[in-house]
Amino acid sequence: MDTAQQIAALLDKEKIPGHVAIIMDGNGRWAEGRGKSRLEGHEAGARNVKVITEACQELGVRVLTLYAFSTENWRRSKQEIDSLFQLMGRYLKQYSGQLHKTNVRLLHMGENDGLPAKTVNDIQKGLDLTRNNYGMDVCVGFNYGGRREIVRAARRLAEKVRQGELSPEEITEDLFAEHLYLPMHNEVDLLIRTSGEYRISNFMLWQISYSEIVVTPTFWPDFSKEEFFKAIQEYQTRLRRFGGRP
Ligand code: FPP
Repeated sequence: MDTAQQIAALLDKEKIPGHVAIIMDGNGRWAEGRGKSRLEGHEAGARNVKVITEACQELGVRVLTLYAFSTENWRRSKQEIDSLFQLMGRYLKQYSGQLHKTNVRLLHMGENDGLPAKTVNDIQKGLDLTRNNYGMDVCVGFNYGGRREIVRAARRLAEKVRQGELSPEEITEDLFAEHLYLPMHNEVDLLIRTSGEYRISNFMLWQISYSEIVVTPTFWPDFSKEEFFKAIQEYQTRLRRFGGRP
């Protein structure tokens, strides 16, 4: 047994988080430290998505949400943005067959608006191929912003009020959550951020209200299965009170 398997064996199988979300940070710094280009850092990051998806499958995590491209990432150079779009397309081509074989459903969290037609098409193919799978969901935050998601939900509700389908008093937390991008996954149990930054960066602002948070200094491409299992171990030591008393 390697160290990762040893840690996995010690985990409480009754307390595996159902939904893990990850802010995959540090690809650029990982690359700089090795004299590589930022694109090489993102490529290494994309390879690690496969490693952590498999780790989730081993433990029985039902939903993994990954922050791959934020609405703020449009502020990066055109060259880096283009290479991230191409990388996403290549990744989906390379791995969606394998995700499909292992019964994983891919979901997109975010907007198609503003993305190149080719990227939208690449994403759509992955979604279509895996549509009926039910083993695990991998949700990719791509062209995603938490505030934008909330504003979009508010607009959709306002439109229903305008059409006379809904009265303002009928708007509850549950109804609001039904208008988010992925209403079936509106609670995150564990939020992980790599690269040592203690920030939320506009990620899943609604869904992380009661999440446990683990921040690790490790850059995303180096965030191994072993470290992932340690993060789950840390999660299992937390007492979740949801605002109440134990
Ligand atoms: C943050 O590192 C990472 C990103 C903005 C992109 C994340 C994308 C991937 C891991 C690859 C594709 C994803 C999937 C799901 C296939 P950074 O560039 O901000 O790093 P830095 O802070 O060190 O500069």
